[in-house]
Amino acid sequence: MIDRPETEENAARPAPSCTLVLFGITGDLVHRLLMPALYNLARWKRLPVDFAIVGVSRSEISVEQLRNDLSQALQRYTAAKSEEAKLEAFEQNAWERVVHQLTYVSGHVDDPATYKTLLECLNKRKPDTGGNVLFYLAVAPQFFAPIVRRIGEAGLAREGQGAWRRIVIEKPFGRDLASAKALNRTTLQVFREDQIFRMDHFLGKETVQNILAFRFGNGLFEPLWNRDRIDHVQITVAETVGVERRGAFYDVTGALRDMVPNHLMQLFSMVAMEPPISFGADALRDKKQEVLMVVRPLLESAAADYAVRGQYEGGAVGGRAMQSYRKEPNVDPASRTETYAALRLEIDNWRWAGVPFYLRTGKAMRARSTEIAIRFKEAPLAIFCGTAVKQCVPNWLVLQIQPNEGISLQFGAKVPGPDLKLSAVKMGFLYKEYFNTSPSTGYETLIYDAMLGDATLFQRADNIEAGWRLIQPLLDAWADSQSILASYPAGSAGPCEAERLLARDGRAWRPT
Ligand code: BG6
Repeated sequence: MIDRPETEENAARPAPSCTLVLFGITGDLVHRLLMPALYNLARWKRLPVDFAIVGVSRSEISVEQLRNDLSQALQRYTAAKSEEAKLEAFEQNAWERVVHQLTYVSGHVDDPATYKTLLECLNKRKPDTGGNVLFYLAVAPQFFAPIVRRIGEAGLAREGQGAWRRIVIEKPFGRDLASAKALNRTTLQVFREDQIFRMDHFLGKETVQNILAFRFGNGLFEPLWNRDRIDHVQITVAETVGVERRGAFYDVTGALRDMVPNHLMQLFSMVAMEPPISFGADALRDKKQEVLMVVRPLLESAAADYAVRGQYEGGAVGGRAMQSYRKEPNVDPASRTETYAALRLEIDNWRWAGVPFYLRTGKAMRARSTEIAIRFKEAPLAIFCGTAVKQCVPNWLVLQIQPNEGISLQFGAKVPGPDLKLSAVKMGFLYKEYFNTSPSTGYETLIYDAMLGDATLFQRADNIEAGWRLIQPLLDAWADSQSILASYPAGSAGPCEAERLLARDGRAWRPT
């Protein structure tokens, strides 16, 4: 994990020399996030001193044209002034440190000739970069396995004379348990587990990394973190955006696959896991795995009892009209794909038995908010007998992942005056009030860690499969054309059916 450079001394810790091979260099992910992240790393002096980038893609463009496109994209992003800006004002020197390292291989990723050219390219850079290579698959998921195979056949995964070879694989890692297992098998035939970095970009978020720092770095909270004190947990990832230009991908994916076995499972396992013995990659991933293994299995036949799915209708989000999901470009007009998913999980261990975890995620929701909300058990009311207090104020501890990153604690306080009345009040911590963080994409830490060989913030093969195994019965249940698909207006809090999921347990979602 990067501690951002605030002093020159901090700044002088570049990653080891290497070549970064970016498959999909002309694509959206590289323009929007990876190049800006490399640029930020250059500004923070974290890029290797001896560094090269080799872009690979089908497009027949010159390296000058590619550099030009990437420069223009970066300048657009540095000029963007939104609250969520990921970059500071454009710094020519830092960008040149990135863009001047770039060479380009044009070729199809399933053509052995591409890898021959790539090998020549890597051999040329070997004296500078020590033969260390980080492959990064920023391509559509159907190309993951073919690229891995071709890398293997061309002998490019072989490590020699102290040099390392590693691979970063983007999300989605499979589309169900069987395909995730197959991709793990293919990848593990070519690379060892410690060479593979499976990406979940939520782990690059400071607020996600802070879940463990908060839980295990404070004497106050851990003793309360269990079924004795906690009533239930709500994990929400609500987005205001619709499917934007991703209709073709999204319509065969849906909210459950897109968000739950990966991003929501990360949040879930970090809240629910037992303390690891260290922040070492395997110590941490073992504990995440253990908690996923003791989640009570979901039953395909009982999906309606623990899960709700919905699709947005036309509506308005933040005052702007939004058309219904079925009218979005590249979406089947009769689509039954869910844009909202909610589910209830239970963990069968001593810490959590009897404490439900409610998870929900949706597109085109009223407000953008990713939060983990922990509701504590209520205090007994008897002492207030004969006063105006008819109910105690619920205690909520809320880890706000984004936006307005921070943590708040709600508790009851006496309303000043002669009568005894309670009111809900809040203590809050906001990152922006305490830390002078520079804007970032969240990918900086992940790229830097992969260059260092630190897999703490990446998914192990078994973690990936555990996420898919958990939701597979629900995927199967929802694949049935008779299964219920609720609807909700764009700009709302989701379908009413999701309210009922909690109402049945005598609980309610927090307002989004
Ligand atoms: C991606 C999903 O993995 O995460 C998108 O495919 C989603 O559908 C995105 O919008 C959310 O990430 P973030 O960082 O914008 O919260």
